[in-house]
Amino acid sequence: MRKILIIVAALIAPTLGWAAGGGATFPNDKIEIDWDDKAAMQRGARTYVNYCMSCHSAEFSRYNRVGADLGIADDLVRDNLIFTTDIHGEKTKVGELMKNTMKTAYAEEAFGVAPPDLSLIARSRGVNWLYNYLRGFYVDESRTGLGVNNGVFANVGMPHVLAELQGLQIPKYRSESDGHGGEHDVIVGFEIIKPGSMSKSEYDNTIHDLVAFLDYVAEPYKQTRRNVGTGVIIFLFGFLILAYMLKKEYWKDVH
Ligand code: HEC
Repeated sequence: MRKILIIVAALIAPTLGWAAGGGATFPNDKIEIDWDDKAAMQRGARTYVNYCMSCHSAEFSRYNRVGADLGIADDLVRDNLIFTTDIHGEKTKVGELMKNTMKTAYAEEAFGVAPPDLSLIARSRGVNWLYNYLRGFYVDESRTGLGVNNGVFANVGMPHVLAELQGLQIPKYRSESDGHGGEHDVIVGFEIIKPGSMSKSEYDNTIHDLVAFLDYVAEPYKQTRRNVGTGVIIFLFGFLILAYMLKKEYWKDVH
């Protein structure tokens, strides 16, 4: 019995975060995305169109589809999420793709590298990476023009566009053995040197919601798929009972 208990404890421990070496710190902070929390995704969408869309499109999504999925009426989408115009200077229509008007060539000249479309970024990078990346910009005077570097994406070409919210921070280091007798410094956290308009927890929540939105954009069908999946499992379970009863009925005279 004791053995079984130990095995069970060993199996569930990692899921509860007791795993050896635990104590998640930057750049391994983790978040949970609640797919039923539409309000968080709505807040994330607002942050996205205000702070990211000018450089990054999300061109696999249409505004009205996002509105329908997240429960935002078309007129509210028009007023609160659309800030771009078409080539004739008219406001982008609610049925259009979430594209921006920045030309790739211009972007490359300005940043050295074109800001990628972020439609699928949550799938390619993962939500935890994004959460750490967007909280990982720190002051680095050696980077001419930008003045910042990033703790998970070294020498990134993106400016710290959320500095007015987060403020400016400098890294805290810990030296770690590199396994070959030498040592090197790794970033384990940050210290704010110039506060922004948000507290640390407000900023963390804002980034959580922004990443929740990016996660939704990367896979708008996830919610439907999950609901269908549950239905299928329930159906199969019911079918299992039926099949078992049938089997009993067929074989009852044989023995
Ligand atoms: C001023 C333009 C600009 C704005 C605004 C901007 N970015 Fe960026 N971003 C860039 C550039 C340029 C890169 C490419 C950096 C590189 O590859 O070195 C980048 C890269 C990224 C990447 C990494 C992509 C990869 O290669 O994996 C992510 C994620 C990202 N941005 C998210 C965001 C989010 C979220 C926002 C809004 C809060 C935002 N960006 C706002 C310019 C911008």
